[in-house]
This record gives sequence, structure tokens and C-alpha cells, in this order.
Amino acid sequence: MTAILPLTDFESVDIERLLDLAFGTDRHGRTAYRLRQGQSWIPAMSAGMRDMTGNLVGVIQSWPVSLRSPDGSMTPLVLVGPVAVAPDYQGAGLGKAMMQHVLDIGDRSAEYRCTMMIGDPEYYGRFFGYDAAPTQLWGIDGPVERHRLLARAPQGASLPAIGDIVPGWHGLAETGYAA
Ligand SMILES: CC(C)(COP(=O)(O)OP(=O)(O)OC[C@H]1O[C@@H](n2cnc3c(N)ncnc32)[C@H](O)[C@@H]1OP(=O)(O)O)[C@@H](O)C(=O)NCCC(=O)NCCS
Repeated sequence: MTAILPLTDFESVDIERLLDLAFGTDRHGRTAYRLRQGQSWIPAMSAGMRDMTGNLVGVIQSWPVSLRSPDGSMTPLVLVGPVAVAPDYQGAGLGKAMMQHVLDIGDRSAEYRCTMMIGDPEYYGRFFGYDAAPTQLWGIDGPVERHRLLARAPQGASLPAIGDIVPGWHGLAETGYAA
């Protein structure tokens, strides 16, 4: 299989086609899409994979979100996903490779360390240490199955227990986050 490449190497039309294939054309109504609205994916935490003929067969995107605490303070987080592999290539390790790639970058960075996602704990918990326990008191705009609202903080980092997830990063000057 080919290397993991920057997602900026790919055309948006190909990315959207692969996401439609994996999640259906009605995917834009999902709760995760509300959190992505008006935002741009984070190039350093997004990637793609081609097959031998050059077609895009794997994609991962990550987005800026924040946890707004009851006192109004904002904790920047990275919303990982969608993660999608073309049906013919599923089960061959592409999903794991792309996730690990992004999480390794996040773990080494100051700003992308704490991530969340909406996904299957049987996959993202089992292989990458995601857990629904830290998110039980997090509010989110839209329906979500609580056991699929997942978070991951590497050792030494902590997540606020209570708050609302909102799109984008806020107060970047104070946090030192890249825009
Ligand atoms: C989910 C997805 C990203 C995984 O990527 P992948 O390249 O197919 O999977 P990998 O090869 O990395 O991993 C394979 C392993 O994960 C397991 N797995 C894959 N998808 C899973 C899921 N949704 N739930 C639980 N386990 C899953 C497989 O059973 C396999 O386990 P094994 O190693 O014990 O045999 C990919 O299958 C996909 O795009 N699916 C369509 C979208 C979707 O259904 N998403 C649901 C999750 S939000």
C-alpha cells in the first residue's frame, strides 16, 4: 500500500466522493457535521492514501472544536473524523495506519494532543484508547449516542469534566494555538 500523504495533495471532489461512499450522501445531517460547519479541516491532522493506480482510497480529517466550560472558559480540542476507507480496501489496515499517523502527530504537538470523535468504541477504543467516560457530562448540539461520544487525552493532559462542545477554536492568542 502507498504512503500516507498530506490531504492537501488531493482534490476536494475525490475526498467528498470517498466520504459519500463510506457514510452515504445524507451524512451532512449528522451531529459531527454541525461541529464542522464554517470550519476548515486541520492540514497537519488530516491525511489521505492512494491505491497503486493513484485513486484516493483512504481519508482522515480533523477539525477545530472547543469545550466551553460553565465559567465560559474554552478548552481547544481536535475533532478527529471522518475516517473513511474505500469498501474494497477495508480491513487491510488503512484505517489504523491513518489514525495512528494523526495521533502520533497530535501526541508530539502542544496544540493537537487532546482529541475527541463520534465513532464506534469497538474500533476507536480498542485500537486507539478512546473512551466515552470523560464525555458523559459534555453537551453537544444534536443527537448522539453517548457511548459513541469519545475522547482521548495523552498522559499528562487532562480534559474538563463538564462543558459544551462548540465549533472552532476561541481565544487563540491566549492558547498559542495555530490558526
Ligand atoms: C471504520 C474504518 C475506518 C476502519 O478502517 P479499516 O481500514 O477498514 O480497518 P483496519 O484494517 O484498520 O482495522 C481492521 C480491524 O478493525 C475492526 N473494525 C473495523 N471497523 C470496525 C467497526 N466499525 N467497529 C468495530 N471494529 C471494526 C475489524 O474487525 C478488524 O479487526 P481485527 O484486526 O480484529 O480483524 C473503515 O472500515 C470505514 O471507512 N468504514 C466505513 C465507515 C464506517 O462504517 N465507520 C464506522 C466507524 S465511525
